[in-house]
Amino acid sequence: MKLRFLFGTLAVIWLAAVTQFSAEQSKSVWDGVFTTEQADRGAATYKTACSECHGQDLAGDGFAPALSGSDFMGNWNELSVGDLFERIRISMPPSGPSAVTPAQKADIVAHLMNSNKFPAGTAELEPKTEVLKGIKIELKK
Ligand code: HEC
Repeated sequence: MKLRFLFGTLAVIWLAAVTQFSAEQSKSVWDGVFTTEQADRGAATYKTACSECHGQDLAGDGFAPALSGSDFMGNWNELSVGDLFERIRISMPPSGPSAVTPAQKADIVAHLMNSNKFPAGTAELEPKTEVLKGIKIELKK
């Protein structure tokens, strides 16, 4: 009886510790992870580097997929902003990914987040995959 009580207590302490830990570790796109200025810069770069294929309004062109809306969000839901950044960093634009700098790509990701109706905040997205991997993409809050 006493032993069971002890285990119960330990389990509660352990759970509290784990919850605390993960609360500190994980951010999501709902936490205001980019600024409005950054998204504006990203929109300008997107226009010159990406819109010919993905569309001015991010709706895609039938060949290139949409970068906003439920299909896009469905693809990236539960992944991280770092995963999305890395995908763009390595492969977009297809003709030569190095034509757009990592800093410009972080701005473009801010534009994508903004267009997908996630809230802006006070800090910019850094062009660092490892940092951005700590920000989860979640369809719902
Ligand atoms: C020449 C046309 C073209 C240009 C320019 C282009 N893309 Fe793409 N993009 C594609 C095509 C086609 C695909 C799907 C096939 C593939 O992955 O290569 C794609 C896929 C993507 C995906 C993956 C979408 C998903 O949900 O899986 C992202 C994100 C993306 N592009 C972002 C960008 C960004 C940001 C830029 C500008 C820096 C850009 N693309 C420029 C044609 C283009």
